[in-house]
Amino acid sequence: MRERRIVHVVGARPNFMKIAPVLEACGRHPTLRSILVHTGQHYDERMSRLFFDELGIPRPDVDLEVGSASHARQTAMILERFEPVLLERRPDLVVVVGDVNSTIACGLAAVKLGIPVAHVEAGLRSFDRTMPEEINRILTDAISDLLFVSEPSGVENLAREGADPAKVHLVGNVMIDTLLAHRERARSSRVLEDLGLEPGRYAVLTVHRPANVDDPESLRGVLEPIVELAGRIPVVFPVHPRSREALARAGWAPEPSSGLVLVEPLGYLDFLRLMMDARIVATDSGGIQEETTILGVPCVTLRDNTERPITLTRGTNRLGGTKPEGIRRAIAGALDAPAARPEPVPLWDGRAAVRIAEILARWARD
Ligand code: UD1
Repeated sequence: MRERRIVHVVGARPNFMKIAPVLEACGRHPTLRSILVHTGQHYDERMSRLFFDELGIPRPDVDLEVGSASHARQTAMILERFEPVLLERRPDLVVVVGDVNSTIACGLAAVKLGIPVAHVEAGLRSFDRTMPEEINRILTDAISDLLFVSEPSGVENLAREGADPAKVHLVGNVMIDTLLAHRERARSSRVLEDLGLEPGRYAVLTVHRPANVDDPESLRGVLEPIVELAGRIPVVFPVHPRSREALARAGWAPEPSSGLVLVEPLGYLDFLRLMMDARIVATDSGGIQEETTILGVPCVTLRDNTERPITLTRGTNRLGGTKPEGIRRAIAGALDAPAARPEPVPLWDGRAAVRIAEILARWARD
């Protein structure tokens, strides 16, 4: 049987936990040969290399080293640098994950060369076109030949947009594969001891979306209710580089006695441990809404919408919006609610990547 070459693409932090189980599962199929390309969209040790080490991801075969730039320039640089890799390596398929600029750029370069594209985490829609990720999702799905979907809303969205049902596979959530695989290891992280935190008696904040951080007024609006929460229990805030710059621009720093503790971005295991034992998590990340759902930890999403509605209907997530009043109300509601006993989410069982690899192996035989 002919071997099929698959180029897997990663670029930004949330891509790493998604590709890790896919690479591992593909590695068990002798007909599939994997090549890993890192675009270099994220490049800091704490935003990239640390995750490769912790998750056992092999070193990339190719690093495009694009770094940070405006959307147009970053996307263009990835397109320009990825095309020669495709011409040289001649893969049979390109796998892209998530919704970052690397996802659409690499998918577009491939499809223009007639190379089929598989999109992992297809079909998610926030219906908010001001989010750069929403544009990346819509465009990537439109050019993909295989659409691997994590939750039923994704199947509905793709059907409404006219996707060929034969391309659509509801496989579950690869990010949850990684969470379940590393949950036990994360228990030995010493992050709580290092930060002087007691299990169940602290909160976690992450905020990095341009809509929340880039404008100083918006940033202050999001932080106001968080500072109030920090008056009751410590709030740990691992600060994304974009937010670090935004805080500096806004001239904002918490009072040392406020209970809001700013730390550097954390590795996967430390952050997982931090989430596992948190009383509540406030975030504008997509993946964290899913992870807290599986961990049974209350989550307040600092956005008006979510492309992951199953975390609202079956999980522990609630939308707080981006204004102080709504966030305050959502935090109070989450703290007052009885201890969460989330319903299991169908197919978020640790085997999504195995299903993907089986579909790819079948596709390779045809
Ligand atoms: C990107 C994704 C976003 C994802 C996020 C996760 C897009 C459009 N956005 O946003 O969907 O949720 O990653 O982190 O793809 N920087 C560093 N070091 C790094 C990377 C970035 O200092 O390793 C700084 C740079 O100043 C850069 C800024 O952070 O300008 C933003 O980085 P960028 O990759 O443009 O977007 P993110 O906000 O990280």
